[in-house]
Amino acid sequence: MTTDAPPEGPAIEVAGLHKSFGDLEVLKGIDLTVRRGEVVCVIGPSGSGKSTLLRCVNLLEQPTAGKVTVSGTEVTDPDVDIDRMRRRIGMVFQAFNLFPHLTVLGNLTISQRRVLGRGKAEAERLARAHLAGVGLGDKESAYPAQLSGGQQQRAAIARALSMGPELMLFDEPTSALDPELVGDVLAVMRKLADEGMTMLVVTHEMSFAREVADRVIFMDDGQIVEEGPAEQVVTDPQHQRTRLFLARVLDPAAAEVKEVG
Ligand SMILES: Nc1ncnc2c1ncn2[C@@H]1O[C@H](COP(=O)(O)OP(=O)(O)OP(=O)(O)O)[C@@H](O)[C@H]1O
Ligand SMILES: [Mg+2]
Repeated sequence: MTTDAPPEGPAIEVAGLHKSFGDLEVLKGIDLTVRRGEVVCVIGPSGSGKSTLLRCVNLLEQPTAGKVTVSGTEVTDPDVDIDRMRRRIGMVFQAFNLFPHLTVLGNLTISQRRVLGRGKAEAERLARAHLAGVGLGDKESAYPAQLSGGQQQRAAIARALSMGPELMLFDEPTSALDPELVGDVLAVMRKLADEGMTMLVVTHEMSFAREVADRVIFMDDGQIVEEGPAEQVVTDPQHQRTRLFLARVLDPAAAEVKEVG
């Protein structure tokens, strides 16, 4: 996706990452390496620090301590050009954050033009290619309000891809969607993974994690409790906390009965 030759080394390297908000320590020493082309899913209970971890990778949050390196550039270096760094990292959130007053094509071209300085024709050509890639080739003139949640999220993914990122961060991209719209978004993400994109994905979609991720990381209380090959962590977790979490996610009704009873 990028025109630069990919640098050597891991795509993301996180070492001794701590993050506090006031007295609240949210990340308590995270070490994590994501290889180029790898898909890593992060799972864990609400409040365990998953979003904060992602936000520290592209410096939407400033870590309290520790080092984050993306494609060989230390983003926690005080002298780093953060805007330049962020351009290399695509981010997709639970809320789609499309501009309501712009068409889909406008949403996909505005940052290409303003941030990357691409010309109109070039920006539109890339936007159309990425819209076709997410199955929205016929929606470029629509406004976000005229799209379903799933279509809006696919447009948001296409927008991120239009910037030519080296890696993509996803924070629960399907959790705001009606169940019947989740599949189309996951299919787009699966295709992206197949094309070799490096992806760090916070998700509760366990079948996606199992089938698409190379590795799954389970976080609890600001720490990585368990990590391993996706299939193993999801089907044969080694830690009790992981087991309890998975039981709750995979069968919420049964877990509730167990807790009440
Ligand atoms: N800007 C902030 N200021 C203060 N506290 C924050 C801030 N952002 C997050 N927190 C707190 O940090 C903790 C971890 O939050 P985070 O959003 O990373 O969790 P999460 O694992 O993504 O949870 P969820 O599954 O609900 O999205 C929570 O206790 C949260 O309230
Ligand atoms: Mg979160």
